[in-house]
Formats: sequence, C-alpha cells, structure tokens
Amino acid sequence: MSPLRVTRTLPEDATDAALRADVQAGLTATPKTLPPKWFYDARGSELFERITELPEYYPTRAEREILVDRAAEIAAATHARTLVELGSGSSEKTRHLIDALADLHMYVPVDVSESALTQAGQALIEDRPGLAVHALIADFTARLALPETPGPRLVAFLGGTVGNLLPAERAAFLASVRRLLAPGDALLLGTDLVKDTDVLVRAYDDAAGVTAEFNKNVLAVVNRELGADFDPGAFDHVALWDAGREWIEMRLRSRTAQTVKVPALGLAVDFAAGEDLRTEVSAKFRKEGVAAELAAADLHLTHWWTDAQGRFALSLSTVR
Ligand SMILES: C[S@@+](CC[C@H](N)C(=O)[O-])C[C@H]1O[C@@H](n2cnc3c(N)ncnc32)[C@H](O)[C@@H]1O
Repeated sequence: MSPLRVTRTLPEDATDAALRADVQAGLTATPKTLPPKWFYDARGSELFERITELPEYYPTRAEREILVDRAAEIAAATHARTLVELGSGSSEKTRHLIDALADLHMYVPVDVSESALTQAGQALIEDRPGLAVHALIADFTARLALPETPGPRLVAFLGGTVGNLLPAERAAFLASVRRLLAPGDALLLGTDLVKDTDVLVRAYDDAAGVTAEFNKNVLAVVNRELGADFDPGAFDHVALWDAGREWIEMRLRSRTAQTVKVPALGLAVDFAAGEDLRTEVSAKFRKEGVAAELAAADLHLTHWWTDAQGRFALSLSTVR
C-alpha cells in the first residue's frame, strides 16, 4: 500500500486572502452574497454528508443508481488510467467507478476541504491497496495544476456541484477543464435536472433542519476566521426556486435590523429586517442546455444517462 500523498496547491495564507476578498466583496454588494465553497470546513463537510442521507435529498441516491448501473459502460468508453475528481468530498459514490475502471492506476481527488480529502483518501488506500491516491487541496475554479499521471484521463465532477457555479463561471470552468484534457480523455459530469418545484425545494429545506444548519455554517466560518460576530440564530434558512433562471437559491434571511462586525476587515455590515444574504445557487439542467454548454467549451457529449425516475443525469463528453 503506497502512502496517501496530499498536495496543497495554494498556500494557507492564499486561502485566507481569498476568504477576505470574498467576504469583503460579498457583504458590501447589493444583494449580499457569499460563495458556497466557504461552507466546507470540517463541520460543513460533515453536515453535507448528513444531507446526502436525508429522505428529501434525492440527488446522491439518484446519481449513485446511475453509477452502479453504468460504471462498466463508463470504463469501457474511457479505459481511464487516471481518475481526477473535482469537489470529491467523501469520494463515497466514486468507489463504484474506481472498482469498475480495470486499468486505473491513480486517483486524484481535488477539494477545498482538507478534512474530507484526507479521510476519504486514507480510507481508499486502506480498502484498495493497489491504487495510488494523490489528493490535491485546491480550488477547482482556479487554474489547476495536476500531477503528471498516465492517460487516458477521466475527469469526474459529480454531485451536481457544477450547478453551484453561475452561468459565466460555468463557462470559464468548463473551458479550464477542457485545457486539462487531451484527445482520448473524457469528462464525466453529474447534473441535477429540472423537476417538480416542491421536490426541488424540499431537497434544500429538509424537515430535520440539517440543510439549515449547513447553510448557517458559513457564518461560523466567517466568525472563526475573520472574528465576525454573526449570530446564526438571528438568521432564517430560506430555499427558493427561481423559475426563470431554473435554479434553487439558498439564502440566510435576517430576522431583525442588525449590524454585524467583521473586525479582520474593519467592516460593519448593516442588515435590514428581512434582508437576504445569498449563500448558494444550485442550477438545474436540461439535456440540450448541458450539451450546448459542453460544446461551447469544445467538449462533445457522447453519453447521457439518467436514473430510472429521470431526476438526475450523468453525461460523458470527450475532446475530438
Ligand atoms: C455538493 S458537495 C459534493 C461532494 C461529492 N462530490 C458528492 O457528490 O457527494 C461539493 C464538494 O465540492 C467541494 N468544493 C466546493 N467548492 C469548491 C471549490 N471551489 N474548489 C474545490 N472544491 C470545492 C466541497 O468541499 C464539497 O466536498
């Protein structure tokens, strides 16, 4: 068994600088926003894993169903020797793929959450002693430098996480993924699909309140890292469907008029009663839209699989 390799592609102070820049820009904007990547400290990653087990949160189960059914086809279509996974989290579902890829030599999970990466990586090398695992602590929206690994390369981006990027960010992201691929390489992309509004909203506003706790975790991160005095109890979790843009928005709604201090930035942020802070968008897709966005990045859809209920899709695209 080779030891787990973990590489941090950004120095820790660069992560701190990125958080400061995002909080400064997001809390002084109208409307106020924070990017979703800041949910995922160790607590946020743990909460996300609990979300994946909730009865209302169908995407994980639907995507796992497709992976179980289609892993052999994905292996036959790609012959991947390196699997790179962006936003890999616990890598739980990925195990179905890893087991099916007979030629796989190296797995490269990429995530901002160091705790998720090391736990998942360690568990994998213990269970799959023949597999080399090189984990990268990195932001997948920044320019990625991957280790030298044997091709063909399969880049997986699961969980519908691509929907957390705004349309212009998605275009830039897909173009940067394209730059990681050579002819013969492929992208496996998980996209949640447009469906009944109630089903969608409940997936982001569960009865047990786990998603609310996850949403408020971003306030705990800003409090801890930047000395802010957010009171999570002074905000309500809100999940809304935007029918025009076909995305879910998660927001934190201020219960009262209040001022939050962020000492590390010298900021005092006023919230009106009922004012929202947007913490995540989660776009939902249709096949034509996914194919068009991929084609705009010079990626060509070769396979489109959904679960039996048509809730979620996995697509495979290649470089010509
Ligand atoms: C919605 S979860 C999905 C996790 C897993 N892929 C799944 O399907 O269950 C998003 C994952 O992406 C990571 N993440 C979010 N934004 C990121 C970014 N900008 N760069 C790298 N990782 C990111 C989070 O830490 C988290 O593990």
